[in-house]
Amino acid sequence: MRRFVFSIILCFAVIAPFLNCRTLANVVTCSGIVPMRYRNDKISITDFGGVGDGRTLNTKAFREAIFRIDHLKRRGGTLLYIPPGEYLTESFNLTSRMTLYLARGAVIKATQDVSRWPLIAPLPSYGRGRERPGGRYMSFIHGDGLHDVIITGENGTIDGQGGVWWEMWRRRTLQFTRPNLVEFMHSKNILISNVIFKNSPFWNIHPVYSSNVVMRYLTILAPTDSPNTDGIDPDSSVHVCIEDSFISTGDDLVSVKSGWDEYGITYARPSKDITIRRVTGSSPFSGISIGSETSGGVENVLVEYITLYNTGFGIHLKTNIGRGGIIRNITVSDVYMENVRKGIKIAGDSGDHPDDNYNPNALPVVKDITIKDVWGENVQQPGSINGLKNSPFTGICLSNINIHGGTGSRKAPWQCSDVSGGAVKVSPWPCAQLTSTSQASACKIPF
Ligand SMILES: *[C@@H]1O[C@H](CO)[C@@H](O)[C@H](O)[C@H]1NC(C)=O
Ligand SMILES: *[C@@H]1O[C@H](CO)[C@@H](O)[C@H](O)[C@H]1NC(C)=O
Ligand SMILES: *[C@@H]1O[C@H](CO)[C@@H](O)[C@H](O)[C@H]1NC(C)=O
Repeated sequence: MRRFVFSIILCFAVIAPFLNCRTLANVVTCSGIVPMRYRNDKISITDFGGVGDGRTLNTKAFREAIFRIDHLKRRGGTLLYIPPGEYLTESFNLTSRMTLYLARGAVIKATQDVSRWPLIAPLPSYGRGRERPGGRYMSFIHGDGLHDVIITGENGTIDGQGGVWWEMWRRRTLQFTRPNLVEFMHSKNILISNVIFKNSPFWNIHPVYSSNVVMRYLTILAPTDSPNTDGIDPDSSVHVCIEDSFISTGDDLVSVKSGWDEYGITYARPSKDITIRRVTGSSPFSGISIGSETSGGVENVLVEYITLYNTGFGIHLKTNIGRGGIIRNITVSDVYMENVRKGIKIAGDSGDHPDDNYNPNALPVVKDITIKDVWGENVQQPGSINGLKNSPFTGICLSNINIHGGTGSRKAPWQCSDVSGGAVKVSPWPCAQLTSTSQASACKIPF
């Protein structure tokens, strides 16, 4: 004990300035990747005529405030303060070296007048909008080519008022792909923390072609039946860290992506070095997923301390023929799930294609996937792993997994095809493909 206390003191007092103290203090966080910055220069949206009455349109105020930040370029950047109140606005662009600070009780609310919503070009790695051909609506809060941007505060809210968009999707009247709530493209050193995201029209937070992106202490909410309201979708991005967040939406809570079929293969931007830690929530689809758009490849992903309730698929890796891309070195550990349809799903036949020009010979590669220390209660099926005949999934390693709960006709066993790897201490016992002793060496068990 004395030695332990001593190491902590040593860590903070002596080593901390030079090293990170992860192993000694045993608290691992993303905070070192993009530090919180203090801004000397502070302005308020009210200085630009902002009115927080929930009805006045504040587009001009937001655009002018950000124009001022962009053009005055104050040393150390500028903080834009949003006081308590409801600020209705059209979409707007952020700029570099700024903090968007939402006070407690501040709400930035998206207009429901979709006829005036700006359109932007499709992402090159998708070749078209994700749900409709052609361009796509710009995200409500948008950043392109930025660095050093912080969105934070006292848990104020960014409300997408997505209902009108969900209704257009249901009636099939959408002309273009719905807007994300927040999107950063080609950006770096982005920190989003202590904010509530609500009712996004489409995906909530979408960092794409970006690096050093930290998202922590977030609450992301959308109704269970809202279509495609993914929580956080790191896409063709590197050094992304997501932690200590609660997410409950109508689609995947976190989904790591990297482009779509022939467009993603050509653009060739992987998602790499991604951490997803201490995320809790519920979803009718996936808890934590990779895919199905993975054409640029996905590697070095660490998922740990995840708690899922009332969810479709707990851990879900999904890809398809025509995708190409390599998914490798994925580690998932310390997952608790309750009331889940399927605990673990790894599938090579998921998701649709952008058009008919995808190459059916572009087969994805899935290898070196470790899933360990998983506990599931009331889970209808423990898992399924279905590789591709001409590209079997390899190095799929399962350890210390207890997933139970299916009863009577709902009780289903593991189900596998075209997969190899190993398993130790897995209950119920998984398929023969993983449990023959010749396979276990692929996993360096115990791992
Ligand atoms: C916002 O950014 C988009 C994409 O970079 C651009 O097309 C648009 O003109 C910008 N809008 C404003 C008001 O600056
Ligand atoms: C904001 O919410 C987060 C997540 O629930 C919480 O950890 C944090 O203490 C809250 N921050 C403030 C300033 O209220
Ligand atoms: C595999 O990914 C982990 C992160 O989960 C990383 O620390 C490690 O360096 C990666 N291994 C290789 C060989 O790239």
